[in-house]
Amino acid sequence: MKVREFRQYLLRWYRTCHRSFPWREDPTPYRVWISEIMLQQTQAKTVIPYYRRFLERFPSIESLARAAEHEVLELWSGLGYYSRARNIHRAARLMLERHGEFPRDLAAIRALPGIGRYTAGAVCSLAFHQAQPIVDGNIRRVITRLEGIQKSVPEKLFWDRMSRWIPERQPSDFNQAMMELGALVCLPSRPLCCDCPVERLCEARRLRIQDIIPAARPRRAVQQTEAVILILENKRRLLLTSLHTFSVIPGKWGLPCSQVLRGKSLKDTANALSLKILGRTVPLILCAKIGHSITNHRITAHGFFCRGDFRVLGLRRTKGFRWATPAECGRLLTSSLFHKALAKYRAIDAEE
Ligand code: ADE
Repeated sequence: MKVREFRQYLLRWYRTCHRSFPWREDPTPYRVWISEIMLQQTQAKTVIPYYRRFLERFPSIESLARAAEHEVLELWSGLGYYSRARNIHRAARLMLERHGEFPRDLAAIRALPGIGRYTAGAVCSLAFHQAQPIVDGNIRRVITRLEGIQKSVPEKLFWDRMSRWIPERQPSDFNQAMMELGALVCLPSRPLCCDCPVERLCEARRLRIQDIIPAARPRRAVQQTEAVILILENKRRLLLTSLHTFSVIPGKWGLPCSQVLRGKSLKDTANALSLKILGRTVPLILCAKIGHSITNHRITAHGFFCRGDFRVLGLRRTKGFRWATPAECGRLLTSSLFHKALAKYRAIDAEE
């Protein structure tokens, strides 16, 4: 690989062809960190509104560290993978306690919760302009084609290449250019080689194998799951639970729910859930069908509602349960699965 030529073509292309993203304006370590965590497993266009809202509410490490965890989770609601939000919050608290600011050193950054080699490299290069490599899925694909790699290779190879190629000057642009090339030109299938600034240096192109490498990874089989959700309303308040056994995000408030086991009907599952929670069955009405996806799981959830005076005052004082007003539901419920269920329920309620 002619490294000087490669850098020159790539950086020239990036200067004119890169996309504008809010995290590319004023890339402070804090802003780079939050955006890179959000961008893990989530597409850039989905992340934009979440990123803007998050930065508006928590503009600094200090504001984030001083927030309650539920506030952080609320702003994360809909992005999924909530451990990312919890780690961000823990890391902000640690930084405030220990360093007072974002550490500059790769090893110190990596030691923070939820930060691995990729994120630490991104903060060091994008915010501190240190020549630290990063490797993500896009970069792996670009290297595989540039080098014409036709068999499985250890992860180390990609890091070695990036370490060798990243320039001391403009490490931020270089890393982002590699990602951007993968996202816009060196696409997983049918790469746009005619638009590629480094086409003439690409081994896969020379061998005309760019369409067959890297070989597509076998997709994880989609897991179909059915669940029931109870919407129990008493004096305009809904019953929420944070108990692990009835909830999708352990420790967070949710509507009571349960998986429908093979061979069981929806109604039987809903009745069994009501019996466990209220100590008795109540007249339940099926009111909503919601589709929801988390990684390779496709969840079809069926909402059952019952409105009335449950006279289950014991519940009020039972740990892990509470009655919540619509405004409180908006604030407390973290999974978008429950927001979807409530939106359907309210639409029916409004029609009545
Ligand atoms: N995906 C991961 N990091 C990114 C970044 N900084 N810009 C655009 N897409 C990304």
